[in-house]
Amino acid sequence: MINLTRGVPAPESYALDDFAACFAKAMREDGRRACAYNATPGYAPLVELLADQQGVKTDQVLIGNGSLELFYFLTMTELEPGDKVIVEGPSYDRTNLLLKRRGAIPVEVALEDDGVDLNALEDAMKAHQPKYFYCIPDFQNPTGSTLSVGKREAIGALAEKYNVNILEDSPYRSLRYFGEDLPPLSDFVNPARVLRASSFSKTMAPGFRVGYLIGSAAILSRIKAFVGNSYIGPASVTQAAAYRFFKDGYFEPNLRKLKDLYRPRLVRTLELLDERLSCAAYTRPEGGFFIGVTLPEGNRMETLIPAAKAAGLNISDGRGFYLDPSLGERFLRIPFCGLKPEELEAAFDALVPLIQR
Ligand SMILES: Cc1ncc(COP(=O)(O)O)c(C=O)c1O
Repeated sequence: MINLTRGVPAPESYALDDFAACFAKAMREDGRRACAYNATPGYAPLVELLADQQGVKTDQVLIGNGSLELFYFLTMTELEPGDKVIVEGPSYDRTNLLLKRRGAIPVEVALEDDGVDLNALEDAMKAHQPKYFYCIPDFQNPTGSTLSVGKREAIGALAEKYNVNILEDSPYRSLRYFGEDLPPLSDFVNPARVLRASSFSKTMAPGFRVGYLIGSAAILSRIKAFVGNSYIGPASVTQAAAYRFFKDGYFEPNLRKLKDLYRPRLVRTLELLDERLSCAAYTRPEGGFFIGVTLPEGNRMETLIPAAKAAGLNISDGRGFYLDPSLGERFLRIPFCGLKPEELEAAFDALVPLIQR
């Protein structure tokens, strides 16, 4: 079977020898601190390093066991059951799940190729008075789309006008294979109402479970109190190793290696789409892990998933990325990151004959 399902880093991308060196050095040089309880906001050297990198004070940093765990904490302190949160349609399914689990009400606003539909966003802000807008501006999961600078600016103004906080989720941001970085969404938002989330899951390895929130000290102080009372602080041994990965100069060369690994996979997938599936509409991302494909009318997940399985290919159910599943009937997420070019070709060999044109 070929799996076009999991949007996770390629296992061959993990810098295992360098990780081993970092763990050894972390233990030798600061093991007693790394092995102790490290209360929130996290292992102090990493908190300071992140603050320094992001140009913020240390009270604007909170580390967690992956960014997903921090989203969970945020739902507990920032939301009450019944509160509305705007999400992109489609969006990262696990965040939708966490919102629902809290009893909050996610409200979907359609994505366009350059990010959320601004008119629909303003209508939703007016109609629902949401507490938050959860936005994945860079190489979005699941579509691969990137929010334009103009829309970033407009979202900052809308957030202010309608008193909405912003949760910017950017785990793929530094995996840019072509083109120039755009300023983060948070640059355009009143600093009192924005948090930016990221993690080392995609740039080192997800098993470290090191993620972080950067932004409003007032919002973070509420989350920190909840975190402290829940589990004192996140695992600090992996934070200590992650800190060494930066400090000893491994991070940047590793990032270059990751880009060299993923860039040809993106290029090959776009070529395959252009050559063999040009009847579909798809994004042309310049980075990240995903290409979002809208299949022509007549295709349906209900029949495509079993047909693909019979042809040796597992695909994600596009309906799972939407709050209104019917919108995802023809939506196919291609996580090009996880497959070698020859595997991508085999995936297209299996998929293309099944597509209704
Ligand atoms: C958009 C997005 N946010 C958050 C996460 C979770 O990342 P972490 O490993 O930091 O919990 C993922 C993981 O795939 C993701 O795609």
